[in-house]
Amino acid sequence: MSSQVILPRIMQVGAGASENVHEVLMSLGCDRPLIITDKMMVQLGYAGRIQEVLALHGVNADVFDDTVPEPTVNSIQAGVAAIRDGSYDSIIALGGGSPIDSAKAMGILGKFGGEMRDYKFPRIVNEEGLPIIAVPTTAGTGSEVTRFTIITDETTDEKMLCVGVGFMPVAALVDYTLTLSLPARITADTGIDALTHAMEAYVSQKANHYSDSQALAAMKLIGPNLRKVYHDGSDAAAREAMMLGSTLAGVAFSNASVALVHGMSRPIGAAFHVPHGLSNAMLLPSVTEFSIPGAPDRYADCARAIGVASEADSDEVANAKLLDELRALNDELQVPTPEQFGIDHTTFMELMPTMAEQALASGSPNNNPRIPNAQEIVEIYKTLW
Ligand SMILES: [Fe+2]
Repeated sequence: MSSQVILPRIMQVGAGASENVHEVLMSLGCDRPLIITDKMMVQLGYAGRIQEVLALHGVNADVFDDTVPEPTVNSIQAGVAAIRDGSYDSIIALGGGSPIDSAKAMGILGKFGGEMRDYKFPRIVNEEGLPIIAVPTTAGTGSEVTRFTIITDETTDEKMLCVGVGFMPVAALVDYTLTLSLPARITADTGIDALTHAMEAYVSQKANHYSDSQALAAMKLIGPNLRKVYHDGSDAAAREAMMLGSTLAGVAFSNASVALVHGMSRPIGAAFHVPHGLSNAMLLPSVTEFSIPGAPDRYADCARAIGVASEADSDEVANAKLLDELRALNDELQVPTPEQFGIDHTTFMELMPTMAEQALASGSPNNNPRIPNAQEIVEIYKTLW
């Protein structure tokens, strides 16, 4: 049995990788890029720096900075119009997961038209949109190396998963120096998201030898460095490890899948506007506890890769240590409970059956080593309180 692996055509990795944007653009045969980003990236001077580098080589790049966190169907319309009206031959997607996910959707809709809903899973989008050079500034969603985008339909509060090689950036410039100024909260949330990607890819029923190798490498990088970057954002060595770990975790889950954490996380995000990494963090300990009986050896490997268990530990001991670590990590990184986040208890309880249905409908729980039914998902939601 073989596995198909889909990757960007070019990856530039390390300090200053984003400065190679012109060379990468040229190698793709493009010279009319649109930078798709958000206002924070403009304020930090990152968008301006890309423009400067390109201008040195006589390339003029316009900036579209109206992307929003957790992008919606409406929020991407202006970008789609900009692409349709302009004569751009490429997109430079700069920012965290939201600008990159927005750019992926805009690149397809701008070129082929239609509604976002037309492109949602189970349709596989293999059309080639405008080529995207992704420049991530968080570590991270891994969106720079995944064939996925997630766009929320605000009329139904549904997080639509869109899948296909059409959403894979053609190049990824993975430059950890862009993460040095990230605030601690975003560092923690995006870091736990990356850890979740690696763990879920590894325990997924769609895991394969290739995704396993990337997932284990990612966990070895993320495990010892997540606390370090949270407490000291200027720790360059830890930032570099987190950035590479995040990208490898992205490669892992893009070529395997995510599982129950992500399946249950998307409905919380859509209903209560909890940032993606944070809702994952809330769920990771409980979902792991539920799932361990389905793949105790795999979770024990995770514990060892993260560095909380040793080869000498039995799987049972390693898994107990893993659960302790995930809870301790949430404490130390000050992950709020839903209550502390400000979610109304009654509303959450009322919405649980709907959220469970949405989680199941996303397909992600079917990749879990232990597949839950709707009632079991509701029981897991209850443990968050
Ligand atoms: Fe994620």
